[in-house]
Amino acid sequence: MPAPTSAPPPALDAATIDRLVAEATAAFAAAATSAELKAAKAAHAGDGAPLLLANRAIRTVEPAQRAEVGARIGAARAAVNQALAAREAELEAQELAARLVTERVDVTLPPDLVPTGAPHPITALMDLLGDVFTAMGWEIAEGPELEAEWMNFDALNLGPNHPARATSDTLFVEPLSNHLVLRTHTSPVQIRTMLDRPLPIYVVCPGTTYRADEFDATHVPAFHQLEGLVVDKGITLGHLKGTLDHLAAVMFGDVRTRIRPSYFPFTEPSAEMDLECFVCRGASVGDPEHPCRTCNSEGWIEWGGCGVVNPRVLAACGIDTDIYSGFAFGMGVERTLMFRNGAADMRDMVEGDVRFSQALVGGAR
Ligand code: DAH
Repeated sequence: MPAPTSAPPPALDAATIDRLVAEATAAFAAAATSAELKAAKAAHAGDGAPLLLANRAIRTVEPAQRAEVGARIGAARAAVNQALAAREAELEAQELAARLVTERVDVTLPPDLVPTGAPHPITALMDLLGDVFTAMGWEIAEGPELEAEWMNFDALNLGPNHPARATSDTLFVEPLSNHLVLRTHTSPVQIRTMLDRPLPIYVVCPGTTYRADEFDATHVPAFHQLEGLVVDKGITLGHLKGTLDHLAAVMFGDVRTRIRPSYFPFTEPSAEMDLECFVCRGASVGDPEHPCRTCNSEGWIEWGGCGVVNPRVLAACGIDTDIYSGFAFGMGVERTLMFRNGAADMRDMVEGDVRFSQALVGGAR
Protein backbone atom coordinates (compact mmCIF):
# COMPACT_ATOMS: atom_id res chain seq x y z
CA MET A 1 0.00 0.00 0.00
CA PRO A 2 1.54 3.30 -1.05
CA ALA A 3 2.11 5.80 1.73
CA PRO A 4 -0.58 8.58 1.70
CA THR A 5 0.70 11.69 -0.02
CA SER A 6 0.65 14.69 2.23
CA ALA A 7 2.27 18.13 2.22
CA PRO A 8 5.70 18.11 3.74
CA PRO A 9 5.51 19.32 7.32
CA PRO A 10 6.14 23.07 7.48
CA ALA A 11 9.39 24.26 8.93
CA LEU A 12 8.87 25.19 12.57
CA ASP A 13 12.21 26.78 13.29
CA ALA A 14 12.47 30.13 14.95
CA ALA A 15 13.61 31.96 11.79
CA THR A 16 10.64 30.71 9.76
CA ILE A 17 8.15 31.54 12.48
CA ASP A 18 9.61 35.02 12.93
CA ARG A 19 9.35 35.56 9.16
CA LEU A 20 5.68 34.50 9.17
CA VAL A 21 4.99 36.97 11.96
CA ALA A 22 6.86 39.71 10.11
CA GLU A 23 4.95 38.99 6.88
CA ALA A 24 1.59 39.02 8.64
CA THR A 25 2.35 42.24 10.49
CA ALA A 26 3.53 43.89 7.25
CA ALA A 27 0.39 42.77 5.40
CA PHE A 28 -1.84 44.18 8.15
CA ALA A 29 0.03 47.45 8.13
CA ALA A 30 -0.28 47.64 4.32
CA ALA A 31 -4.07 47.16 4.37
CA ALA A 32 -5.58 50.60 3.81
CA THR A 33 -9.23 49.67 4.25
CA SER A 34 -11.24 47.22 6.36
CA ALA A 35 -11.92 45.22 3.19
CA GLU A 36 -8.16 44.89 2.49
CA LEU A 37 -7.55 44.00 6.14
CA LYS A 38 -10.16 41.28 5.91
CA ALA A 39 -8.26 39.73 2.99
CA ALA A 40 -4.93 39.99 4.87
CA LYS A 41 -6.55 38.38 7.90
CA ALA A 42 -7.71 35.42 5.82
CA ALA A 43 -4.22 35.02 4.34
CA HIS A 44 -2.25 35.34 7.58
CA ALA A 45 -4.56 34.40 10.42
CA GLY A 46 -7.20 32.31 8.67
CA ASP A 47 -7.59 28.54 8.73
CA GLY A 48 -5.17 27.96 5.80
CA ALA A 49 -2.58 30.51 6.91
CA PRO A 50 1.05 29.18 7.29
CA LEU A 51 1.02 29.88 11.03
CA LEU A 52 -2.15 27.82 11.48
CA LEU A 53 -0.63 24.98 9.49
CA ALA A 54 2.47 25.26 11.67
CA ASN A 55 0.29 25.07 14.75
CA ARG A 56 -1.35 21.91 13.48
CA ALA A 57 2.07 20.43 12.79
CA ILE A 58 3.19 20.70 16.42
CA ARG A 59 2.00 17.18 17.01
CA THR A 60 4.60 15.88 14.49
CA VAL A 61 7.47 17.30 16.53
CA GLU A 62 9.60 15.09 18.74
CA PRO A 63 7.94 15.05 22.18
CA ALA A 64 11.10 16.44 23.74
CA GLN A 65 10.95 19.61 21.64
CA ARG A 66 7.18 19.94 21.51
CA ALA A 67 6.94 22.33 24.44
CA GLU A 68 9.49 24.74 23.04
CA VAL A 69 8.06 24.71 19.51
CA GLY A 70 4.55 25.00 20.91
CA ALA A 71 5.49 28.03 22.99
CA ARG A 72 7.14 29.71 19.97
CA ILE A 73 4.16 29.21 17.71
CA GLY A 74 1.75 30.22 20.44
CA ALA A 75 3.64 33.45 20.99
CA ALA A 76 3.78 34.05 17.23
CA ARG A 77 0.00 33.60 16.86
CA ALA A 78 -0.63 35.91 19.79
CA ALA A 79 1.62 38.53 18.20
CA VAL A 80 -0.20 38.21 14.86
CA ASN A 81 -3.64 38.42 16.49
CA GLN A 82 -2.57 41.44 18.47
CA ALA A 83 -1.23 43.20 15.35
CA LEU A 84 -4.49 42.37 13.59
CA ALA A 85 -6.67 43.74 16.39
CA ALA A 86 -4.57 46.89 16.61
CA ARG A 87 -4.84 47.50 12.86
CA GLU A 88 -8.57 46.78 12.91
CA ALA A 89 -9.08 49.37 15.63
CA GLU A 90 -6.91 51.86 13.74
CA LEU A 91 -8.78 51.46 10.45
CA GLU A 92 -12.16 51.57 12.16
CA ALA A 93 -11.22 54.84 13.83
CA GLN A 94 -9.93 56.26 10.53
CA GLU A 95 -13.03 55.25 8.65
CA LEU A 96 -15.34 56.66 11.32
CA ALA A 97 -13.41 59.94 11.27
CA ALA A 98 -13.76 60.09 7.48
CA ARG A 99 -17.50 59.36 7.69
CA LEU A 100 -17.99 62.07 10.26
CA VAL A 101 -16.42 64.55 7.88
CA THR A 102 -18.35 63.53 4.76
CA GLU A 103 -21.65 63.11 6.55
CA ARG A 104 -21.37 66.26 8.57
CA VAL A 105 -24.66 68.06 9.07
CA ASP A 106 -24.64 71.77 9.68
CA VAL A 107 -27.46 72.10 12.16
CA THR A 108 -27.21 75.87 11.99
CA LEU A 109 -28.30 76.00 8.30
CA PRO A 110 -31.86 77.25 7.74
CA PRO A 111 -34.22 74.38 6.84
CA ASP A 112 -35.77 74.01 3.37
CA LEU A 113 -39.27 75.37 3.80
CA VAL A 114 -41.54 72.90 2.04
CA PRO A 115 -44.81 74.68 1.28
CA THR A 116 -47.79 72.88 2.76
CA GLY A 117 -51.09 72.60 0.95
CA ALA A 118 -54.25 74.43 1.94
CA PRO A 119 -57.87 74.56 0.78
CA HIS A 120 -58.56 76.76 -2.24
CA PRO A 121 -59.85 80.21 -1.17
CA ILE A 122 -63.28 79.40 -2.66
CA THR A 123 -63.48 76.15 -0.69
CA ALA A 124 -62.29 77.90 2.47
CA LEU A 125 -64.88 80.65 2.00
CA MET A 126 -67.69 78.13 1.41
CA ASP A 127 -66.68 76.36 4.64
CA LEU A 128 -66.73 79.67 6.49
CA LEU A 129 -70.14 80.59 5.03
CA GLY A 130 -71.47 77.22 6.15
CA ASP A 131 -70.01 77.77 9.64
CA VAL A 132 -71.83 81.11 10.01
CA PHE A 133 -75.14 79.28 9.60
CA THR A 134 -74.40 76.04 11.46
CA ALA A 135 -73.39 78.27 14.39
CA MET A 136 -77.02 79.51 14.35
CA GLY A 137 -78.36 75.95 14.29
CA TRP A 138 -79.02 75.76 10.54
CA GLU A 139 -78.22 72.63 8.53
CA ILE A 140 -76.13 72.20 5.39
CA ALA A 141 -78.08 70.77 2.45
CA GLU A 142 -76.69 69.36 -0.77
CA GLY A 143 -78.01 68.46 -4.18
CA PRO A 144 -76.63 67.07 -7.46
CA GLU A 145 -74.82 69.24 -9.98
CA LEU A 146 -76.39 67.22 -12.79
CA GLU A 147 -79.97 68.20 -12.09
CA ALA A 148 -83.44 67.46 -13.42
CA GLU A 149 -84.69 70.32 -15.54
CA TRP A 150 -87.91 70.24 -13.50
CA MET A 151 -86.02 70.86 -10.23
CA ASN A 152 -83.86 73.56 -11.76
CA PHE A 153 -86.77 75.45 -13.37
CA ASP A 154 -90.38 74.23 -13.26
CA ALA A 155 -90.61 73.61 -9.51
CA LEU A 156 -89.13 77.07 -8.95
CA ASN A 157 -91.95 78.65 -10.93
CA LEU A 158 -89.72 79.29 -13.93
CA GLY A 159 -92.22 78.62 -16.71
CA PRO A 160 -91.22 76.97 -20.00
CA ASN A 161 -90.83 80.35 -21.71
CA HIS A 162 -88.59 81.95 -19.09
CA PRO A 163 -85.45 83.47 -20.69
CA ALA A 164 -83.18 81.59 -18.23
CA ARG A 165 -84.15 78.44 -20.08
CA ALA A 166 -82.59 79.61 -23.36
CA THR A 167 -79.71 77.36 -24.38
CA SER A 168 -77.38 80.36 -24.36
CA ASP A 169 -77.43 80.32 -20.53
CA THR A 170 -78.15 76.75 -19.59
CA LEU A 171 -75.92 73.77 -20.28
CA PHE A 172 -78.35 71.03 -21.30
CA VAL A 173 -76.96 67.52 -21.17
CA GLU A 174 -77.54 65.10 -24.02
CA PRO A 175 -79.69 63.18 -24.73
CA LEU A 176 -82.05 66.14 -24.38
CA SER A 177 -84.97 63.76 -23.95
CA ASN A 178 -83.64 63.01 -20.43
CA HIS A 179 -84.25 66.65 -19.44
CA LEU A 180 -81.04 66.93 -17.44
CA VAL A 181 -79.10 70.18 -17.01
CA LEU A 182 -75.97 71.25 -15.19
CA ARG A 183 -77.73 73.20 -12.45
CA THR A 184 -77.67 76.92 -13.24
CA HIS A 185 -78.13 77.87 -9.57
CA THR A 186 -78.30 76.21 -6.15
CA SER A 187 -82.03 77.02 -5.87
CA PRO A 188 -83.15 73.47 -6.88
CA VAL A 189 -81.73 72.37 -3.52
CA GLN A 190 -84.61 74.38 -2.01
CA ILE A 191 -87.05 72.04 -3.74
CA ARG A 192 -85.13 68.89 -2.77
CA THR A 193 -84.98 70.08 0.83
CA MET A 194 -88.69 70.84 1.05
CA LEU A 195 -89.53 67.45 -0.47
CA ASP A 196 -87.08 65.57 1.81
CA ARG A 197 -86.94 67.25 5.19
CA PRO A 198 -89.49 67.77 7.92
CA LEU A 199 -90.62 71.31 8.79
CA PRO A 200 -89.40 73.71 10.01
CA ILE A 201 -86.50 74.12 7.58
CA TYR A 202 -83.35 76.15 8.17
CA VAL A 203 -80.72 75.20 5.57
CA VAL A 204 -77.92 76.65 3.52
CA CYS A 205 -76.43 75.00 0.48
CA PRO A 206 -72.98 76.00 -0.73
CA GLY A 207 -72.35 74.43 -4.13
CA THR A 208 -71.05 74.53 -7.69
CA THR A 209 -73.25 75.90 -10.48
CA TYR A 210 -72.82 76.14 -14.25
CA ARG A 211 -73.77 78.51 -17.03
CA ALA A 212 -72.74 78.90 -20.66
CA ASP A 213 -71.10 82.21 -19.76
CA GLU A 214 -68.10 84.03 -21.16
CA PHE A 215 -64.79 83.44 -19.39
CA ASP A 216 -63.78 86.93 -18.28
CA ALA A 217 -62.94 88.98 -15.19
CA THR A 218 -66.47 88.73 -13.80
CA HIS A 219 -67.74 85.44 -15.27
CA VAL A 220 -66.56 81.85 -15.15
CA PRO A 221 -68.71 79.02 -16.56
CA ALA A 222 -68.38 76.93 -13.37
CA PHE A 223 -68.91 79.04 -10.28
CA HIS A 224 -70.32 78.75 -6.78
CA GLN A 225 -73.35 79.94 -4.91
CA LEU A 226 -74.63 79.93 -1.39
CA GLU A 227 -78.35 79.22 -1.19
CA GLY A 228 -80.37 79.77 1.95
CA LEU A 229 -83.88 78.61 2.76
CA VAL A 230 -86.08 78.98 5.81
CA VAL A 231 -89.63 77.64 6.06
CA ASP A 232 -91.37 78.05 9.40
CA LYS A 233 -94.45 79.56 10.96
CA GLY A 234 -94.66 83.36 10.93
CA ILE A 235 -91.57 84.02 8.78
CA THR A 236 -91.37 87.57 7.40
CA LEU A 237 -89.12 89.77 5.31
CA GLY A 238 -87.72 91.08 8.61
CA HIS A 239 -86.20 87.69 9.40
CA LEU A 240 -84.60 87.69 5.96
CA LYS A 241 -83.09 91.14 6.43
CA GLY A 242 -81.79 90.27 9.90
CA THR A 243 -80.19 87.07 8.64
CA LEU A 244 -78.47 88.76 5.71
CA ASP A 245 -77.30 91.65 7.89
CA HIS A 246 -75.69 89.13 10.24
CA LEU A 247 -74.01 87.35 7.31
CA ALA A 248 -72.79 90.68 5.90
CA ALA A 249 -71.37 91.67 9.29
CA VAL A 250 -69.44 88.37 9.61
CA MET A 251 -68.19 88.60 6.03
CA PHE A 252 -67.37 92.27 5.74
CA GLY A 253 -67.44 93.77 9.19
CA ASP A 254 -68.99 97.15 9.58
CA VAL A 255 -70.85 97.66 6.27
CA ARG A 256 -74.31 99.04 5.55
CA THR A 257 -76.79 96.86 3.67
CA ARG A 258 -80.09 97.42 1.92
CA ILE A 259 -82.67 95.31 0.12
CA ARG A 260 -84.24 96.74 -3.00
CA PRO A 261 -87.23 95.40 -4.95
CA SER A 262 -86.46 92.98 -7.75
CA TYR A 263 -88.01 89.98 -9.46
CA PHE A 264 -87.42 86.24 -9.14
CA PRO A 265 -90.13 83.75 -10.11
CA PHE A 266 -89.60 81.71 -6.93
CA THR A 267 -89.95 84.57 -4.43
CA GLU A 268 -92.72 87.10 -3.91
CA PRO A 269 -91.87 89.77 -3.02
CA SER A 270 -88.33 89.51 -4.38
CA ALA A 271 -85.38 91.69 -3.58
CA GLU A 272 -81.78 92.35 -4.38
CA MET A 273 -79.41 92.56 -1.41
CA ASP A 274 -76.90 95.40 -1.77
CA LEU A 275 -73.79 96.29 0.18
CA GLU A 276 -72.54 99.80 0.62
CA CYS A 277 -69.70 100.38 -1.87
CA PHE A 278 -66.40 99.45 -0.19
CA VAL A 279 -64.48 101.94 -2.22
CA CYS A 280 -66.40 105.23 -2.14
CA ARG A 281 -68.77 104.44 0.77
CA GLY A 282 -71.43 106.30 -1.19
CA ALA A 283 -69.41 109.49 -1.58
CA SER A 284 -69.42 109.29 -5.40
CA VAL A 285 -73.22 109.57 -5.61
CA GLY A 286 -74.10 112.89 -7.27
CA ASP A 287 -70.43 113.86 -7.47
CA PRO A 288 -69.46 113.73 -11.18
CA GLU A 289 -66.02 115.11 -10.26
CA HIS A 290 -65.18 111.91 -8.33
CA PRO A 291 -66.79 108.95 -10.10
CA CYS A 292 -66.46 105.46 -8.55
CA ARG A 293 -65.76 102.58 -10.93
CA THR A 294 -66.57 99.90 -8.37
CA CYS A 295 -70.21 100.93 -7.90
CA ASN A 296 -70.69 103.05 -11.07
CA SER A 297 -71.20 105.95 -8.68
CA GLU A 298 -74.36 104.34 -7.32
CA GLY A 299 -72.98 103.95 -3.81
CA TRP A 300 -74.15 100.32 -3.59
CA ILE A 301 -73.03 97.02 -5.06
CA GLU A 302 -75.22 94.02 -5.65
CA TRP A 303 -74.47 90.98 -3.52
CA GLY A 304 -77.30 88.50 -4.17
CA GLY A 305 -80.97 87.82 -4.69
CA CYS A 306 -83.54 87.06 -2.01
CA GLY A 307 -87.17 87.20 -1.10
CA VAL A 308 -90.17 85.62 0.57
CA VAL A 309 -90.68 82.14 -0.85
CA ASN A 310 -93.43 82.24 -3.47
CA PRO A 311 -96.44 80.32 -2.07
CA ARG A 312 -96.70 78.53 -5.43
CA VAL A 313 -93.26 77.00 -4.75
CA LEU A 314 -94.25 75.96 -1.23
CA ALA A 315 -97.48 74.45 -2.57
CA ALA A 316 -95.59 72.56 -5.30
CA CYS A 317 -93.68 70.88 -2.46
CA GLY A 318 -96.86 70.04 -0.56
CA ILE A 319 -96.46 72.66 2.18
CA ASP A 320 -99.57 74.24 3.67
CA THR A 321 -99.21 77.93 2.81
CA ASP A 322 -101.88 78.92 5.32
CA ILE A 323 -99.57 77.83 8.13
CA TYR A 324 -96.06 78.16 6.76
CA SER A 325 -94.08 80.85 5.02
CA GLY A 326 -90.42 81.19 4.23
CA PHE A 327 -87.58 83.25 2.92
CA ALA A 328 -84.73 82.39 0.59
CA PHE A 329 -81.56 83.95 -0.67
CA GLY A 330 -78.74 83.13 -3.07
CA MET A 331 -75.42 84.80 -3.62
CA GLY A 332 -72.26 84.22 -5.62
CA VAL A 333 -69.30 82.89 -3.65
CA GLU A 334 -66.77 84.25 -6.19
CA ARG A 335 -68.37 87.69 -5.89
CA THR A 336 -68.20 87.46 -2.10
CA LEU A 337 -64.51 86.54 -2.29
CA MET A 338 -63.89 89.52 -4.60
CA PHE A 339 -65.53 91.95 -2.17
CA ARG A 340 -64.04 90.36 0.93
CA ASN A 341 -60.46 89.90 -0.24
CA GLY A 342 -60.14 92.48 -3.01
CA ALA A 343 -59.70 89.76 -5.67
CA ALA A 344 -60.22 91.73 -8.87
CA ASP A 345 -60.36 88.99 -11.51
CA MET A 346 -62.47 85.82 -11.26
CA ARG A 347 -60.18 84.02 -13.69
CA ASP A 348 -57.50 83.96 -10.98
CA MET A 349 -59.80 81.69 -8.99
CA VAL A 350 -59.70 78.89 -11.55
CA GLU A 351 -56.31 79.21 -13.18
CA GLY A 352 -54.48 77.40 -10.38
CA ASP A 353 -51.59 79.83 -9.81
CA VAL A 354 -50.60 79.10 -6.23
CA ARG A 355 -49.51 82.72 -5.72
CA PHE A 356 -53.18 83.76 -5.90
CA SER A 357 -54.13 81.36 -3.10
CA GLN A 358 -51.10 82.38 -1.04
CA ALA A 359 -51.98 86.06 -1.39
CA LEU A 360 -55.44 85.29 -0.03
CA VAL A 361 -54.37 82.95 2.77
CA GLY A 362 -55.75 84.20 6.03
CA GLY A 363 -58.08 86.54 4.24
CA ALA A 364 -60.61 83.88 3.29
CA ARG A 365 -60.41 82.10 6.61
N1 DAH B 1 -81.06 81.59 -7.95
C1 DAH B 1 -80.82 82.99 -8.17
C2 DAH B 1 -79.72 83.19 -9.20
O1 DAH B 1 -78.99 82.28 -9.46
C3 DAH B 1 -80.40 83.68 -6.90
C4 DAH B 1 -81.52 83.74 -5.91
C5 DAH B 1 -82.40 84.81 -5.88
C6 DAH B 1 -81.70 82.71 -5.01
C7 DAH B 1 -83.41 84.88 -5.00
C8 DAH B 1 -82.73 82.79 -4.08
C9 DAH B 1 -83.56 83.89 -4.10
O2 DAH B 1 -82.94 81.83 -3.19
O3 DAH B 1 -84.57 83.93 -3.20
O4 DAH B 1 -79.59 84.25 -9.71
